[in-house]
Amino acid sequence: MSESASTESERHTADQHPFDAGHFRTVMGHFPTGVTVIAGMGDDGPVGFTIGSFTSVSLDPPMVGFLPQIGSETWELMAPSGSFCVNVLSDQQSDLCWKFAKSGTDATRFDGVAWHPAPSGSPVLDRAVAWIDCSVEEVYDMGDHHFVLGRVGALDADADHDGQPPVPLLFFKGTLGGFAADG
Ligand SMILES: Cc1cc2nc3c(=O)[nH]c(=O)nc-3n(C[C@H](O)[C@H](O)[C@H](O)COP(=O)(O)O)c2cc1C
Repeated sequence: MSESASTESERHTADQHPFDAGHFRTVMGHFPTGVTVIAGMGDDGPVGFTIGSFTSVSLDPPMVGFLPQIGSETWELMAPSGSFCVNVLSDQQSDLCWKFAKSGTDATRFDGVAWHPAPSGSPVLDRAVAWIDCSVEEVYDMGDHHFVLGRVGALDADADHDGQPPVPLLFFKGTLGGFAADG
């Protein structure tokens, strides 16, 4: 092992003891994600939040999942309905990403936002790249987050873009960008 490699490895070991939450966040920020607004119906109307931890889970049966923070006000409002709709944001919807991520403003997040109900009643946002309508199958607690497993009831993509393929919004190292195919 070269001297510089050994120094690097020692530095990583030192960084990990004691555990550094800021370092964890910074390193995880190097994994790019798509951006979704996951929306559902609360007692007083639509609720939703920005979620990057969305993933496809199973094809047969069709299932997806995401991880809201334990104590999330939005999840607590949405959960009793037993359903949610995942809206994949386009690069034209960065305003929605920040709007649905601001804490303490859930009552106003839908102000001025055009939507219509998916078959479950959960909101489909106009001009989303794709939407996936789900019923809640299971909720697992994992550390400081829930893992919400949803069974897909209906879904569609590219439906609302005047025939032009939409470009998804991406999140990387705390900033937003688009996607350019290269290979
Ligand atoms: C790009 C992006 C991705 C996010 N992904 C998640 C996520 O996967 N899980 C989560 O709990 N919060 C995530 N957040 C933060 C929530 O959107 C934010 O904390 C929001 O206020 C949660 O709503 P609540 O306060 O009503 O619980 C993300 C925020 C951004 C900007």
